[in-house]
Amino acid sequence: MDSYDMYELMINGRTLKTPIALASMAGITDASYALLRKENAGIAFIGGYSIDESSMNASLQMEEEGRHEFKYEDPISTLQNEIQKFKGTDLIPGVNLRGTSPKSFLNIYSALGNEVIYEIDAHCRQEPMINAGSGEYLLKNTDTLSDIIRALKEAGATVSVKIRAGVSEDDSVLARIIWKAGADILHVDLMDFGPEKLRQIRNSCPLIIIANNSINTFERMKDMFSHGADIVSLARNADNKTLENLNRAIAEYAEESGWYNSPKQLCRGGDIRSLTFCCMPVKQCALLPALKKIGMSPKEFHDLKLSLVENTPLASGESTCFGSLAWCCKSSTPCMFRDMSLKREGLTHSDYMRYKHRLSEKILKKVFDDKGEEKSG
Ligand SMILES: Cc1cc2nc3c(=O)[nH]c(=O)nc-3n(C[C@H](O)[C@H](O)[C@H](O)COP(=O)(O)O)c2cc1C
Ligand code: SF4
Ligand code: SF4
Repeated sequence: MDSYDMYELMINGRTLKTPIALASMAGITDASYALLRKENAGIAFIGGYSIDESSMNASLQMEEEGRHEFKYEDPISTLQNEIQKFKGTDLIPGVNLRGTSPKSFLNIYSALGNEVIYEIDAHCRQEPMINAGSGEYLLKNTDTLSDIIRALKEAGATVSVKIRAGVSEDDSVLARIIWKAGADILHVDLMDFGPEKLRQIRNSCPLIIIANNSINTFERMKDMFSHGADIVSLARNADNKTLENLNRAIAEYAEESGWYNSPKQLCRGGDIRSLTFCCMPVKQCALLPALKKIGMSPKEFHDLKLSLVENTPLASGESTCFGSLAWCCKSSTPCMFRDMSLKREGLTHSDYMRYKHRLSEKILKKVFDDKGEEKSG
């Protein structure tokens, strides 16, 4: 099975070979560091690199105070040189950048072009960086953050924003701001907040979410995936042994299950993607309040799901509770009626989950497209 069939993840027009990223560590994570780990990572965010006078001065001060920072006179030639080293590899490069204005980021974009992901570092909490107007400053000054995102997007860049959970007053609102400004990826250091915080963020935006912080075991990785992450990232424990264990385990799971980051059922704490597994809206359960929250009536949900499965194998299922596999439960819930229908259609459990995955993406598109219109209108 190829990587696209396993994960269905594309970034910058390229297929991700594994949903694992290397997270940046200033003064440590450069191209050589990343390429030593290239077998078991799909994206490498190198950096952080300070890219304008204010952030470079902050880096100098941070270094004097004992932190590791990358040293250079000219960020552009340094970054060009680093990015060049990824040519011919299947590791997608991202650059984690500390800057204070749209102009600083556009300077780098005009030198590096479209082959890299531009990650705005809104994560750094060192005082000199915050005082310079970069890093965590951007989480409290979201107009500037939005201006930077918009400028990069208008220029044609793929944009990621690295945040630390719990800094903003409301991470769901922050996620929405970042989405509405046009970002593609939200890279979240979850600190100690855990999967519930991730679920909240997943329910607030349709962005590609990278979950980060201490994701060093398959158990933790799976927990992140089942609560809304599309990708996980590692910094401090990104040694080849850990990366290889995670990569092998997720590849096996993806192949066997058909949906590597499937959510739990909604009534078991699943996120918005779990609407794909929900029954026909005919009973009092967690579905009705969830629909109310997203502003969709039960009838709209009913009609939407049936229209989205038209001409797909999920339209069949006469022997199931509601006459269509559109309403059927996750494959991990045993059910002989669903399985009879699957057998009749010649589908395995993993085929079924692949179709449910696509259905969930279409539901999300509808939910968030409508929310987008409602906000901007
Ligand atoms: C030494 C060090 C330097 C870091 N530098 C950056 C940075 O420049 N930009 C950034 O976004 N995050 C930076 N981080 C944060 C990491 O990318 C990551 O979010 C954090 O370490 C938690 O993930 P982990 O548990 O996998 O290490 C740094 C972390 C460490 C330990
Ligand atoms: S509709 Fe079914 S799957 Fe969804 S919350 Fe209700 S009981 Fe659970
Ligand atoms: S037929 Fe089985 S899988 Fe389908 S909705 Fe009923 S209980 Fe769930």
